[in-house]
Amino acid sequence: MCGIVGYVGPRDCSDVLVSALTKLEYRGYDSAGIAVFDDSLIKVAKSKGRLKDLIDKMEKEGKPSGHAGIGHTRWATHGEPSDINSHPHSGKRVTIVHNGIIENYKELKQFLLDNGRQFLSDTDTEVVAQLLDYYYDGDPINTIQRTVRDLRGSYSLGIVFADFVDTVYGIRCESPLIVGKGKDESFIASDVPAIINYTKNYYTLEYGEIAILKDGSVSFCDLYGKPLAKELKTADWDEKAAEKAGYEHYMIKEIHEQPSAVKTTITPRIENDMVNLTECSITDEMLKSFDRIFIVACGTAMHAGMVAKYVIEKIARVEVIVDIASEFRYRNPLITSKDLVIIISQSGETADSKAALKLSKEMGAKTLAIVNVKGSSIAREADMVIYTHAGPEIAVASTKAYMVQLSVMYLFAFELAFSKGKITKDKYIEFTKALASTPEYIEKTIEEVKDECQYISTKLLNADSLLYIGRGLDYALSMEGSLKLKEISYIHSESYAAGELKHGTISLVTEQMPVIAVVTQNDLLEKTVSNIKEVKARGAVTIVICDEHANIGNDVADYIIRIPQINPLLMPMLAAVPMQLLAYYTSVNRGNDVDKPRNLAKSVTVE
Ligand code: G6P
Repeated sequence: MCGIVGYVGPRDCSDVLVSALTKLEYRGYDSAGIAVFDDSLIKVAKSKGRLKDLIDKMEKEGKPSGHAGIGHTRWATHGEPSDINSHPHSGKRVTIVHNGIIENYKELKQFLLDNGRQFLSDTDTEVVAQLLDYYYDGDPINTIQRTVRDLRGSYSLGIVFADFVDTVYGIRCESPLIVGKGKDESFIASDVPAIINYTKNYYTLEYGEIAILKDGSVSFCDLYGKPLAKELKTADWDEKAAEKAGYEHYMIKEIHEQPSAVKTTITPRIENDMVNLTECSITDEMLKSFDRIFIVACGTAMHAGMVAKYVIEKIARVEVIVDIASEFRYRNPLITSKDLVIIISQSGETADSKAALKLSKEMGAKTLAIVNVKGSSIAREADMVIYTHAGPEIAVASTKAYMVQLSVMYLFAFELAFSKGKITKDKYIEFTKALASTPEYIEKTIEEVKDECQYISTKLLNADSLLYIGRGLDYALSMEGSLKLKEISYIHSESYAAGELKHGTISLVTEQMPVIAVVTQNDLLEKTVSNIKEVKARGAVTIVICDEHANIGNDVADYIIRIPQINPLLMPMLAAVPMQLLAYYTSVNRGNDVDKPRNLAKSVTVE
């Protein structure tokens, strides 16, 4: 998604903007640009492509020089990636950068065209710039207020007015925007990593709040100009957490961070081998009161929900419906006040997940958010929150966030099962002890399978298409394995319930289609092995992920990746590792941009 930055302070503004934008690259983008007050005039530099293209362009054509300005990385929505469509966009006296979507931009554009305005680009953003200009009356706040009144959509803006030299305005309407405060300098940004090299202190803007950055200080007001006092927060991680620390890519670094991320997430919530979620306002009484659970999320977070469904239904015997947020919100779902809706989201800002949360609340359900980013919209709006503590996840392909989402879902499932009297205290303790030991097993798994996965990935390199199969929990997990592979290797892949293959999909299987089978659930092993034999008989190269003791031999599998054996319920936390590594090395071998795969964004803040 687009990234916004802004700076006012003593440093070279262009350098700060470009460096801050580098830290937002993970969000995905296809063009970049900056606007800086240079000799009291706003100078714009922008280019299609990577930040490197912008830097090259500025080297050739001159870099704006000054101490205040705004910058942007664009992920194209309205109009193709091009120099013209790149942000910043300007009216006569106003220049802006924008994250989000203006839904009614067509009618506003027509209104402005009817009033003699002309447009250079195809973007909804230029409409906002022209509208600000249209309403401009010499008072920036008044102008912003008039403009925002006409806009429909979710967005945040960084704005500079030609008449207000060295002043930057930021406004948030849904899409996230934070304000950094250093000594004698201030920043706006879509996310904290953008500013962490300069300061750890920041404010979070809420809907309709405006930040004014001027003379090294920062002030806030609402849309009516009423001053606001806001609480200064401090990031509890530093720039090192958002850097590669010697790893070639963020993704492999984040895979290695999984043991510590899980440990940090679960340790404070396990006391004397019992789960304690009271700090998240989750009590036994409340858990007992739910008849049904909906888990609503997008992408990888939704896949964590799929694993949770199998676990919760198995041990707590509560019905769980997992839903894709973009489907849920428009389906008029059958929720009642006796249901619990769990929203899982790394960023806490995904547009569809946010809308699903809002809808669930309107329909009277209790809501629980499982979120990684503190103070994010979903975390603030849900009735209860369990934070995952993955730290910043930079690679677009999620790994450690998925792992900690799983760990929290296990904590929740154990607590629910025990509260509902569906498992004995001994079983409950056995589960929590097993969960507490997963960090060391995840670490062991990474070390044991790394080289093997690197080698086996060379067998996937030239495949056009792949299948992931599994049963039960293994099927739920293979959905994530398949997504991981396709998003970063660009090889088509699908996950299939192994028993369903015969009903159509097996017709695709040839020697050209490798099949990756996950077989960690011993009670289903024989059944899945039969399915593996069926695809092998049709020429497929078979790769099996199973535990170290599984009775599977080379008559069934061409390649076997063995992982440590722990409680079967928790095996997804280990089996996820070889899947992540297979995807990672396949992407590396194909020469892809592993951390920033094409067309993808880390945080999808528009529909
Ligand atoms: C994007 C990301 C995925 C993520 C999904 C949901 O598609 O690329 O990695 O799983 O959004 O994001 P969330 O922040 O809500 O977990």
